[in-house]
Amino acid sequence: METIRVELAERSYPIVIGAEVLDQVRDFIPAEVAKIAVVTQENIPHRPDLEGLDFRVFTVPDGEDAKSMSVAAELAEGVAEFGLSRSDLVVAVGGGVVTDLAGFVASVYYRGIRYLNVATTLLAQVDAAIGGKTGVNLPAGKNLVGSFWQPSAVICDVSTLSTLNPREYSSGLGEMAKYEFLGSGRLDARDLESAVARCVAIKAAYVSRDEREGGKRALLNYGHTMGHAIEALGLAGKSEHLYHGEAVAIGLVFAAHLAHSLGRIGYNELNAHYEVVERMGLPRWLPEGLDVEETFPYLERDKKAMGSMTFVLESAAADGLEVVRGVSREDVRRAWAEMLDGRPR
Ligand code: GLY
Repeated sequence: METIRVELAERSYPIVIGAEVLDQVRDFIPAEVAKIAVVTQENIPHRPDLEGLDFRVFTVPDGEDAKSMSVAAELAEGVAEFGLSRSDLVVAVGGGVVTDLAGFVASVYYRGIRYLNVATTLLAQVDAAIGGKTGVNLPAGKNLVGSFWQPSAVICDVSTLSTLNPREYSSGLGEMAKYEFLGSGRLDARDLESAVARCVAIKAAYVSRDEREGGKRALLNYGHTMGHAIEALGLAGKSEHLYHGEAVAIGLVFAAHLAHSLGRIGYNELNAHYEVVERMGLPRWLPEGLDVEETFPYLERDKKAMGSMTFVLESAAADGLEVVRGVSREDVRRAWAEMLDGRPR
């Protein structure tokens, strides 16, 4: 078992990573808490043992549909009816959908009450449950309504990952692949607990330095600009439906092609992206039949784009990742065409 801290002065908190650590939730329930709202989904087979405490379980719909204003409103009404007070606690048990939604409701209920994340998917353990980004989706875009509201603890029980379906697991690997470009070293050389802890340590360090994404935290979005566009086009029925981390894996390879075609990296760095994504068994081809022109409305609407296309790209000169603004449609078209040609040999 390992504990890593997000350091944010009085809002600092621990992240516990280990096997069979689910019930450690109890260690993080302050004495003044009278009632606990557990937020989860029907298909999540894990519940921390809260025997003897006054808690109620709120199940929200499965899938991304749960991240909506109407489900958030229903949940807030439910916890109000339960009598949750300002000094009480929300416990989110699940993947990113649950932690984003429950965290959002906790952030606005009584103008903000404590919540605690029990992350039961690989993706939530290495990314979504950490860092205090909460939110719900609008028809106009993902996570358009939300807040920065830090949890008071995060529990990453790696034994819960054995019940994930293979594609959900692989989706988490997509986020993990990103960390190999943020200095994690080879994650497959570690056991699962230590690989999760390595990713958590990197994320915690970025969040501790830049909570509100004014600077370097944006590097955690590596692979996400094209990844989000491809994921959204899949959800809109315009191409194959991909899980978030699968789309991120393709987004990582695309970002490498873009950096390569802009002369920022050489073949070795480009090939390293293929190598990582292949090693993790993730998809590395653009969805069949998808037209690059379809991606522009998403790339230009990306909430991190600020008026022009913005990508996180590797740069050999900077020896790492950088936020690159002002990427043109022509740049994207060229990189897309190169990626369709495949991995350079
Ligand atoms: N998922 C990226 C971040 O939390 O900043």
